[in-house]
Amino acid sequence: MRNKINQSLCKKCGICTEVCPNKIILQNGHIQFKEEKEHLCLQCGQCMAVCPSKAIKVKGLSYENDFHEITGKKADYENFMEILSSRRSVRTFKNRPVSEEVIDEIVNSLSYAPFGAAPEKMEISVINNREKIVSALPLISDFFHGIEKMIESPIASIFLKLFAGKEDFQTIKNHIYPIAKSGIYNLDNGDGITRGAPAIITIHAAKDAEAHTNNGIIYATYMMLAAHAIGLGATMIECVIPAINRNKKLKRIFQIPDNNEAIMSVIVGYPKYHYKRTIKRHKHKINRVL
Ligand SMILES: Cc1cc2nc3c(=O)[nH]c(=O)nc-3n(C[C@H](O)[C@H](O)[C@H](O)COP(=O)(O)O)c2cc1C
Ligand code: SF4
Ligand code: SF4
Repeated sequence: MRNKINQSLCKKCGICTEVCPNKIILQNGHIQFKEEKEHLCLQCGQCMAVCPSKAIKVKGLSYENDFHEITGKKADYENFMEILSSRRSVRTFKNRPVSEEVIDEIVNSLSYAPFGAAPEKMEISVINNREKIVSALPLISDFFHGIEKMIESPIASIFLKLFAGKEDFQTIKNHIYPIAKSGIYNLDNGDGITRGAPAIITIHAAKDAEAHTNNGIIYATYMMLAAHAIGLGATMIECVIPAINRNKKLKRIFQIPDNNEAIMSVIVGYPKYHYKRTIKRHKHKINRVL
């Protein structure tokens, strides 16, 4: 089925032609989709969302199932900043399970996340089972041990730099390696990887899926903030990602298909401690171009 405008409902206001990011809708006497441009449709639903008379039908989207009516109630800047400024990465959890309903609430935040392209190719794996998480830890810990050895070997280090690329190599060398060396990821010292969390949510996608890395980071951010808004604690855990992507057994535990790559994990649970204050960072360099 193609995208369609119901001409008997259309008021010819032209708003849909303006909001469509790829200018697929044409106002030419009446409002219609440009047939030769329909392949550019992102299924973003912007046109359907602004149409005052629900006259638009975009392939794969329906007013009944895919839209949420925006009421007059809108969180203001103060509420928004309250959520942001009261959040910290939480790495100490109560021994309290998280219900599937709460996990659903966290994941539902993704329904409103922006995407670079192809949101339908994004996948989420939820492990809401501490025993299952624990079964993955030795494999992840071994991976870090391997990283330590590679960084300490000048030749292996060169290969690591070549394969990982500059950004990842610097992160491994200057951030992950010293932490690994300090014993945080050594399970004899406790779980410094998933921090005893009862649940871990991992975002993944096919290796060739459009924009999946950036989509994944945005998804992780949304879920972390949603968890915090619900009263849970959450932390993005990137350190597990290279281990998962290089180990088929880990992929099986996380139920990530071999052809997919993990992008980011978020641990969630009920916080053991409540923060009395937040940190206000002023480290960003801002260039105001005049
Ligand atoms: C991309 C990214 C990756 C992260 N990976 C980890 C991780 O692997 N392990 C961890 O304990 N924290 C991880 N964090 C949490 C950061 O350490 C934390 O956000 C940072 O210290 C700032 O603290 P705050 O979140 O409490 O403001 C990650 C955060 C981001 C944004
Ligand atoms: S769904 Fe988005 S891209 Fe497609 S026609 Fe509507 S506004 Fe344009
Ligand atoms: S927004 Fe709706 S009513 Fe307005 S021109 Fe487009 S289809 Fe017609």
